[in-house]
Amino acid sequence: MMDIKSAHVGATTEDVARLITNRLLAVADAHKRPIHVAVSGGSTPKSLFEHWLKMPDELIRRRIHFWWVDERMVPMTDSESNYGNAFRTFFGKADYPQGLIHPIEYQEGRTTAEAAHLYDTMLSESLPTDGRSTPLDVVILGMGDDGHTSSLFPGQDLFEVEERYVKSVNPYNGVERVALSYTGILESPLVLFHVMGTAKREMLQRVFVPQTAEDRLLPAAYVVEHAKHVELYTDIALEA
Ligand code: 6PG
Repeated sequence: MMDIKSAHVGATTEDVARLITNRLLAVADAHKRPIHVAVSGGSTPKSLFEHWLKMPDELIRRRIHFWWVDERMVPMTDSESNYGNAFRTFFGKADYPQGLIHPIEYQEGRTTAEAAHLYDTMLSESLPTDGRSTPLDVVILGMGDDGHTSSLFPGQDLFEVEERYVKSVNPYNGVERVALSYTGILESPLVLFHVMGTAKREMLQRVFVPQTAEDRLLPAAYVVEHAKHVELYTDIALEA
């Protein structure tokens, strides 16, 4: 479990984006090879992408590979597309090298389970290319106000899934998703939670300082408890 006194708390969205970015660059510089990072979807990462757009070469010259934590099964032109939004906010504008970005592809007629299997295979097949011990070096996770992370939602029975990517569904709107599984998250050396906004304070407190068995089964809490190494980047001050 992470000691919440070690949480990285920033006063503004930009401060927190800078803290995470500096951590990412330090991890990249600690490796003799390009690192592989999985980014989440939703709205929080927008501040990261906007920050990166001010210094794209810091990422490009380190040849950082980007994968996606999860994706909604919609075309990238859709405003719900995590990759589409990331591309429109940063990767496209920065002319980020295509060989370094690995979107979860949506294809009309392909089932979500097939899309998850394809992506799982693509990530696994990238492993032997450069001596990584696990496919992902860093996983950047968000958290919903219900305690979900990736597209792993409370009440789903996905804890035992062996694949790194799995089919999931948003229980609130039925939209199918491809999601990095607990297996894929927990094998990674470093998990960075990026959670912003006082609306998430109560849930973030439950996730990082669980008080009940129910709290510990919240997807984000399960990751905090079982991951190899977790760091929290937020504008929320938690209580020990
Ligand atoms: C997604 C995300 C999801 C996200 C949380 C927080 O595709 O929706 O991966 O897990 O991180 O829902 O979303 P916000 O950043 O919009 O609050």
